[in-house]
Amino acid sequence: MQIVLANPRGFCAGVERAIEIVERALEVFGAPVYVRHEIVHNRHVVAALRERGALFVEELAQVPEHSIVVFSAHGIAPQVRAEADARGLRVFDATCPLVGKVHMEVGRHARDGREVILIGHAGHPEIVGTLGHYSGPSARAIHVVGNAGEAAQLQVQDPTRLAYATQTTFSIDDIKPILHILQMRFPALTGPRKEDICYATQNRQAAIKELAATCDLILVIGSPASANSQRLREIAAGQQVDAYLVDDAEQLQRAWFDGRRRVGITSGASTPEVLLGQVVARLQAWGAGPVENRPGVREHVVFALPRELVRAARTAS
Ligand code: F3S
Repeated sequence: MQIVLANPRGFCAGVERAIEIVERALEVFGAPVYVRHEIVHNRHVVAALRERGALFVEELAQVPEHSIVVFSAHGIAPQVRAEADARGLRVFDATCPLVGKVHMEVGRHARDGREVILIGHAGHPEIVGTLGHYSGPSARAIHVVGNAGEAAQLQVQDPTRLAYATQTTFSIDDIKPILHILQMRFPALTGPRKEDICYATQNRQAAIKELAATCDLILVIGSPASANSQRLREIAAGQQVDAYLVDDAEQLQRAWFDGRRRVGITSGASTPEVLLGQVVARLQAWGAGPVENRPGVREHVVFALPRELVRAARTAS
């Protein structure tokens, strides 16, 4: 059995930045550092930071006044920021800058009095945060649409003043039929100048598609809460290849690999590379052969840390 690794895979620039913000905050201020929501959707990342003194909470009400708090990479609604300020919390915002770009688009549509269709998964923290940015006296309505059926059923107030935005980790293939329906129904629909689906999602989805075409089994390493990892598994499964999403090597089942000749492996944007190494080692212990690392797009994106954190680190050193 041959092992083939997708490229690119694993950490994106937004995840690297978010984890570094928590680590730096712990170094500068000491434990505890509160983190609102899982900093990124990966069980192992969260456990490692918890061990170092991060405390994960879902609501700011759980954070004592004047504490240090980090907002997760998925972004927050402005109301959450206002609540933190009112409670005297010192905030470091790890919202991915590419999610922040969608927040700005949606805020601009609200100011311009345009109704918005937000294409994404209702209830996902990124969507919850983005919805909060659609507010103000000119705001009309914002609708979340997650599939073609919902796009076909959607009722809007004014089809002549309508824009769309998307969740950064949505599937490129799934968005096409949704947009097609919306554009047929609402010809005046306007959209972002450049795709909202982020570079990391696009690159990882393209890489898994190519890999799935030549493999008879795909493993995606990532946590079930990770939207981008889920999409990678769905894309592979959509190409009629058996595909499993696993958190780590412990979740592998030996029977999955009986009679397989070529196993493709990728990891979600919030998955540490060390977990992939452990999966490969487990498969090799079960008799797998050498590893082929597929060539792929090289990513050079780096996001700067928040200025106030860099300043605080300088003062502390
Ligand atoms: Fe940002 Fe995309 Fe990663 S939105 S957090 S670069 S998956």
